[in-house]
Amino acid sequence: TGRSSFVVVANRLPVDEVPDEERAGGRRWRRSPGGLVTALHPVLVQRDGTWIGWAGSAGPAPAPFMVDGIRLHPVPLDADEIARYYEGMSNSTIWPLYHDAVEPPIFRRRWAASYREVNARFAEAAAQVAAPNATVWVQDYQLQLVPAMLRQQRPDLRIGFFLHIPFPPIELFMQLPQRAEIMRGLLGADLVGFQQRLAAQNFVRLAHHVLGCPVSGSVIEYEDRRVKAAAFPISIDVGEIDRLADNPLIRTRAEQIRTELGEPKTMILGVDRLDYTKGIEHRLKAFRELLAEGRLTVPETVMVQVATPSRERVEHYQALRVKVEREVGRINGDYGRVGVPAVHYLHQSYSRSELAALYRAADVMMVTPLRDGMNLVAKEYVAARADAGGALVLSEFAGAASELRQAFLCNPHDLDAVKDSLLRAVHVDPDEARKRMSIMQRHLRRNDVAHWARSFLTELGSL
Ligand code: UDP
Ligand code: G6P
Repeated sequence: TGRSSFVVVANRLPVDEVPDEERAGGRRWRRSPGGLVTALHPVLVQRDGTWIGWAGSAGPAPAPFMVDGIRLHPVPLDADEIARYYEGMSNSTIWPLYHDAVEPPIFRRRWAASYREVNARFAEAAAQVAAPNATVWVQDYQLQLVPAMLRQQRPDLRIGFFLHIPFPPIELFMQLPQRAEIMRGLLGADLVGFQQRLAAQNFVRLAHHVLGCPVSGSVIEYEDRRVKAAAFPISIDVGEIDRLADNPLIRTRAEQIRTELGEPKTMILGVDRLDYTKGIEHRLKAFRELLAEGRLTVPETVMVQVATPSRERVEHYQALRVKVEREVGRINGDYGRVGVPAVHYLHQSYSRSELAALYRAADVMMVTPLRDGMNLVAKEYVAARADAGGALVLSEFAGAASELRQAFLCNPHDLDAVKDSLLRAVHVDPDEARKRMSIMQRHLRRNDVAHWARSFLTELGSL
């Protein structure tokens, strides 16, 4: 196996295992449709790149293999590591802490030890795979120790890190028992990228506060090196979504969805992983109150909520599922009719094409996270509305709100504000809706995911 001059390191590989149509009972790997893969695919192919990541199940890793011209290098995790590194430290400590502690983070020494071990394994794999002077780009909160571990073995490399989720303010970060270790881990990179400028500023301040590093603007001095921290808001493959949503098959599917829903006047849509940061309950409560007050009525208005199963063995997620399902049951019990539920709740994972049809069908999209690094669903909805129909209700606490200023913005904690934004979106004048959509679309066309990857890699290359 050759070495690569461009290496991406992420917790998950960019592939899904799917049934093989050509071999009964067989399985094969298919490139997964995420925006990150789409953005990096050309760079990976052009620079003979490798993607290092976990294949998604417990046990020994498959041997490295190729999919669509990208080399994939699987890293194994055993059942204990999935419980401690992935479900524990990554998703019960860091995820809630970095999202404003909207659920209390749980701190366990055994989880931190496993996080360290697994990060070392990823760093080891990258050190093996990277060619001399290669560029290595490490992704997200599961792998914050990798940059320093990798630099120690391979000082010749150019190392970038991008955090896809928020980076918390000092007061919250200081709770983390591993705060100094994580800061040192990240400072192993040459460039540390964030979704928002505020996050980059939090990081610079913490480097000074926790490690006493001299800092100036966006540059941190650390161990005789200069590390840069800056914002690179991630985006979507606008062309792909636009083409998908405009495909005649998908347009027909969108019409069919409305028929299946009983031809409502207004279809409201939510699409989220079933995650407590997404504000799904807040959205449902706002809808319930509007039905109770008679300001919205069934069957003229229906809501479709896709709540994709996620991290199902983590307790906070199990508790959330119970709460959301109770609320859906309550709304349907009070306001549904035979054959016409008020909320269509779908605890399932959907394909890109079905999502595009849902986006295309929905009059109002509700994206109401309590905190979200970016929220790509909001951007996808806008990109899918080439017909300039539809209206977006968007939480101020999603990274996307810094860019999608023409959405109906709201504070998800303020139930009256959510209700007000929802009603304004439902009743918006079509001309005004069109104007809002086209301004946001213009912004996205200029700032798509290829632009994001290019900006980051250009900056990394120029340091
Ligand atoms: N998504 C999907 N199928 C689903 C639900 C979501 O393919 O059933 C995709 C969605 O189109 C988007 C991504 O998953 O591209 C979710 O990204 P987002 O930033 O909105 O939230 P995250 O899940 O990363 O917190
Ligand atoms: C967020 C994180 C990603 C993660 C994804 C799905 O987008 O930023 O790193 O891959 O959620 O979560 P999962 O735990 O299933 O990988």
